Amino acid sequence: MTQSRYRATYAAWKADPQAFWAEAARAIDWITPPASILDPAAGLYGRWFPDAVCNTCFNAVDRHADGGRGEQAALIYDSPVTGSKRTVTYAELKDEVATLAAVLTEMGIVAGDRVLIYMPMIPEAAFAMLACARIGAIHSVVFGGFAAKELATRIDDATPKAILAASCGIEVAKVIAYKPLLDGAIEMANHKPEACLVLQRPQLEATLLPGRDLDWAQLLAAARMAGRKADCVPVKATDPLYVLYTSGTTGKPKGVVRDNGGHMVALQWSMQNLYGVHPGEVFWAASDVGWVVGHSYIVYAPLLAGCTTILYEGKPVGTPDPGAYWRLIAEHKVVTLFTAPTAFRAIRKEDPEATHLDLATLPHFRALFLAGERADPDTVKWAESILKVPVIDHWWQTETGWCMVGNPLGLGMLPVKHGSPTVPMPGYDITVVDEAGKPVPVGQMGSIVVRLPLPPGAFPTLWQADDRFAEAYLADFPGFYKTADAGFIDADGYLYIMGRTDDIINVAGHRLSTGGMEEVLASHPAVAECAVIGIADALKGEAPCGFVVLKAGVSTPHAEIEADLVRLVRDKIGPVAAFKLAVTVARLPKTRSGKILRGTMKKIADGENWSMPATIDDPAVLDEIAAALAARGISA
Ligand code: COA
Ligand code: AMP
Repeated sequence: MTQSRYRATYAAWKADPQAFWAEAARAIDWITPPASILDPAAGLYGRWFPDAVCNTCFNAVDRHADGGRGEQAALIYDSPVTGSKRTVTYAELKDEVATLAAVLTEMGIVAGDRVLIYMPMIPEAAFAMLACARIGAIHSVVFGGFAAKELATRIDDATPKAILAASCGIEVAKVIAYKPLLDGAIEMANHKPEACLVLQRPQLEATLLPGRDLDWAQLLAAARMAGRKADCVPVKATDPLYVLYTSGTTGKPKGVVRDNGGHMVALQWSMQNLYGVHPGEVFWAASDVGWVVGHSYIVYAPLLAGCTTILYEGKPVGTPDPGAYWRLIAEHKVVTLFTAPTAFRAIRKEDPEATHLDLATLPHFRALFLAGERADPDTVKWAESILKVPVIDHWWQTETGWCMVGNPLGLGMLPVKHGSPTVPMPGYDITVVDEAGKPVPVGQMGSIVVRLPLPPGAFPTLWQADDRFAEAYLADFPGFYKTADAGFIDADGYLYIMGRTDDIINVAGHRLSTGGMEEVLASHPAVAECAVIGIADALKGEAPCGFVVLKAGVSTPHAEIEADLVRLVRDKIGPVAAFKLAVTVARLPKTRSGKILRGTMKKIADGENWSMPATIDDPAVLDEIAAALAARGISA
């Protein structure tokens, strides 16, 4: 192993952060280059590149299309669920995006307007994001697995001028009609968008509402016929590029804001130094454009770096078999795959001997990166043993937009310690503290915090909610960003992420709020009180389990109410919540001051050692919980 440049690079950043980011910023084509790197007094903790002017779409598309990569594949769409593939070169991408941007402009959308995007994994979803970036509009992509109510909440918060949607998504063999969800959401929302541009997919066409809905293909064709294309609009580096909603501790999601300049600088830096990927190479993030991984590493980072990105409309298994990932890597000459550990658990479950894998077909493949949830050592070791390339866990959040802690392949890999995502990236000064904010000794668990300012690429605030940002992230540990993850740092400076300090759970790499699910359960007329916890699941990492206490006098059979509750969560939050287990109990375990003992319930459900909380009101309730779980085959 050659000597890693990591330590020197991290030390250089720490010695002079502004010089470090000024140097990284040179990889971006600015309209007005930054004279000032950080204004520490601006925003809630400082703003990066406050006087620079730029355009993200120009950097992701035009500079490559016009700079010698016009004929190179920018995007490869591979869709086993529709049996189709399409390669889009940088020149074609520029044409598609500039034409769609002209359509958006004709629809009256201008810089600063919000545009909500509700689309599956098809090239038009990426075109839509880039078209918004081109004209300075702020996109907000909503994942297809959310129900109408979640969509409505986002419409009301982002107040989009227009919505871009597809008629349907495809989940393995199921066609999911998007349009009724969209119509339902607009009906529910207080804010009404002026127009919806709808892409009709042949698998299920939608009925368009006269006066509001516009046909995507027709408008594109008309713009193309007339030769209308929109140019890149200069925006401030600090202007928002997008808002992406993520689960908070209540049912109201948080609108994470990403700016233009810092985002480009950080992502561009990460492609070469963290992922070790070079212009012209093929990078595949097997995620969804509805998640942050999709924003950063399906769309923006690979394109900013002049790579080829892959848009995969399929699953790790079942489309058609657990060899799907290997087929894509071989066929498209992928050098780096980025996915969630749950995908590898799914592949391993169906093909434990990896009989679908023939390493001789993957000569280009160099590394697997995992994120989105804890990479359990067992899964990492299995992936290493079958792929014979580095398997790299890295830790980040929607809020940060890129990796906080990882193993920088590009700078030279550090030794892997299973169970740890390795070391902080430049930009992140990470400490583990106790409840009073005091650093804890090496090896001791505590809250993981990041010294302010957060680096370029991380969120400057929540959409129109500076106070909520300050309260949720900055108030508990002054001078630091609270990650809400808990863990420890070992003697070599390796970080270990052990869980959340709030009520967020992680189901199949999807971040979900148990508080949000409790709000839904509590809305059922038969429910007096409830508690949702995440219980260990061999495939999905965690699976939600809702305990409900029914109101006195409810005579409906419990099984009927429980089935109702499962349906209700699916209807209100969406199938992505994967809420399949509601358990009726007589009482919930509480402390004497009335706090529900969710942590103890989780330990019982997971079969972990637990001790009786000293403050428990009635210890017998825990036996009742264990018995209720055992009756469902979940043994203590
Ligand atoms: N649109 C509509 N519905 C969706 C959806 C989408 N984009 N994505 C998921 N769903 C639905 C699924 O069809 C499923 O519905 P069901 O209850 O009717 O079966 C439900 O939401 C739960 O989905 P999921 O938790 O993904 O489970 P799954 O059993 O369909 O698949 C895996 C399990 C592991 C194969 C799958 O989660 C996976 O591929 N994960 C990869 C990880 C990933 O992409 N993480 C993102 C962050 S990097
Ligand atoms: P999201 O914002 O959806 O990306 O989810 C972020 C959360 O997922 C983090 O706060 C962690 O709890 C968890 N997470 C993401 N990546 C990792 C990882 N590599 N190891 C452990 N937990 C992770």
